Amino acid sequence: MTQKFDFVAKTLFGLEEVLAKELRAIGIDDLTVHRRAVSFRGTTEDLYRANFHCRTAIRILKPIYHFTARNEEELYGQAKKFDWSTIMDISHKFAVDGVVNSETFTHSRYVALKLKDAIADQFRDNTGRRPFVDPKNPHIQLHIHISGQECTVLLDSSGDSLHRRGYRQLQDVAPLNEVLAAGLILLSGWDDSKPFVDPMCGSGTLLIEAALIARGIPPGVFRKEFGFENWLNFDKELFEKVYNDDSTERESSAIILGGDLSKRAIEITRENLKSAGLQRFIEVQHSSIFDLVPPATTGVVITNPPYGERLKKEQLDIFYRQVGDCFKQKYDGWDIWMLAGNTEALKSFGLHASRTISLLNGTIECKFQRFSMYKGSMKAKYREEDTNSDKKVANE
Ligand SMILES: C[S@@+](CC[C@H](N)C(=O)[O-])C[C@H]1O[C@@H](n2cnc3c(N)ncnc32)[C@H](O)[C@@H]1O
Repeated sequence: MTQKFDFVAKTLFGLEEVLAKELRAIGIDDLTVHRRAVSFRGTTEDLYRANFHCRTAIRILKPIYHFTARNEEELYGQAKKFDWSTIMDISHKFAVDGVVNSETFTHSRYVALKLKDAIADQFRDNTGRRPFVDPKNPHIQLHIHISGQECTVLLDSSGDSLHRRGYRQLQDVAPLNEVLAAGLILLSGWDDSKPFVDPMCGSGTLLIEAALIARGIPPGVFRKEFGFENWLNFDKELFEKVYNDDSTERESSAIILGGDLSKRAIEITRENLKSAGLQRFIEVQHSSIFDLVPPATTGVVITNPPYGERLKKEQLDIFYRQVGDCFKQKYDGWDIWMLAGNTEALKSFGLHASRTISLLNGTIECKFQRFSMYKGSMKAKYREEDTNSDKKVANE
């Protein structure tokens, strides 16, 4: 129970420190921050807890076998030396993914295929039957990472990516990844003593993640299954203890408000709120950002406006300028955080960012920028913040 293992929690570029903080919050201190990942040592309970609670983890892997190989035949031979019956049995459907950073091994799919063959052949040699491969819905998901000639096989404890929380029934165009949405809120430092507004809420991802954070609801409660539930050594009682521990949950009177110009987006948001059981705590209005009335004299806006795939450059520049003017006129006393993949358009925003964080949204390089709207003392505020600004908290 108290035996410790090595694990690797994967995340999105720019959210590594946020994930490390989340891991520390559940009692995991022995950790190291890497690019797009945090490695840590912990017990099986820590692993279950990390999958269940971490809002910014995409998946958590357990390294199970390390070896050196100079070519594909050696890789196959080394892989056959491991006793795979300690990991899975013949009834398990399995899948293998590969990541290579090597001059020797250049095709990740071929490498994954070699490992898959070695596992299936070992079962055939020992039992006369080969286990089924199911890349879409495997019971056991394995990953092979190769750096040069160093190969590591890792067991995926999460299964489906953890950004698929399970509450999103429907989605509008360009919904934010839930892991990124939670990461933006945690990066902003928002706490539920202040109102939260997303005036261009789309499918409502930021609103839902904000409500979950405010109420301390673990993102794992919506999941149907985690990968580790299929493991041979799955400890059901231990997982039930983690699942039933509601000590992080709390009441919150946070004002959370969303709006969107699109009627369909608002309908989708309402469906998603219902599915997450949060409809009582979040207000949504079918409204343009220009008509939405801020619910208080201070608060935090986090939003990701249209990027420009569908809007022409001139239209986008005008739109961003109008949005900037709207914030200036109506959101005095607020912190406005914008996630934008179109940094050119952000220039038309006409406001000076007091903080800029570089992130990746899928493959799109984004800026997450804070604009502090304080009339009167604006110049003094900007001067002060410029000096302290961590302009590039996370950069390539
Ligand atoms: C990139 S999407 C936001 C996605 C959202 N964060 C999510 O997770 O689903 C941008 C949204 O801005 C909305 N929008 C565009 N112009 C608007 C306006 N003038 N007022 C309010 N919303 C607007 C679009 O309808 C779209 O839903």
